[in-house]
Amino acid sequence: MKNIVILISGGGSNMAAIVKAAKREDWQHKFGARIAAVISNKADAKGLVFAQQKGLATEVLDHKSFATREAFDAALAQAIDQYDALGQPALVVLAGFMRILTPSFVSRYAGRLLNIHPSLLPAFSGLHTHQRALDAGCKFVGASVHQVTAELDYGPILAQAVVPVLPGDTADTLAARVLTQEHLIYPQAIAALLRS
Ligand code: GAR
Repeated sequence: MKNIVILISGGGSNMAAIVKAAKREDWQHKFGARIAAVISNKADAKGLVFAQQKGLATEVLDHKSFATREAFDAALAQAIDQYDALGQPALVVLAGFMRILTPSFVSRYAGRLLNIHPSLLPAFSGLHTHQRALDAGCKFVGASVHQVTAELDYGPILAQAVVPVLPGDTADTLAARVLTQEHLIYPQAIAALLRS
């Protein structure tokens, strides 16, 4: 069985979309894959409630209780790896996980570490993507699913969704419209990877 471990920091709506798609599309029989666990670096992440309601294993690893980024990432890797009988999970899915990961963490999961970012990468990596796109006068914004490499918000792009900017849009209205697209492309990109 391929194990998918999803990492969140907040609302977890992308995680919820992935969990629902996995059930709806029967990833277990189709790909031999299951959502093994949801791990958050914040105890109050709202997404944890959804995950628990769905009967998924959840774990909180508060980054503030670790002295260094390296120590947190080492503990995170340990937490992730316990969900695979063979030692390592098939996929580690960052879904609104707002932490910069160390190079050694990234290389440990090379090729099976995915992220979603609310911009059309390589434009607007980092934070406040929608406001920065509005300030730049962009006519289109969007979201990207990509493999994670050591550089923040970079790595091979697996899927993108394009969303037009409408008159009167604010960062919040754009974020909401982009998020609905994220919920479509992230599960699709994961399913495509599991199929390949
Ligand atoms: C999503 O918009 C995701 O693209 C973004 O955080 C939001 C999380 O929402 N991720 C990043 O900005 C990563 N750099 P969610 O918790 O409801 O899935």
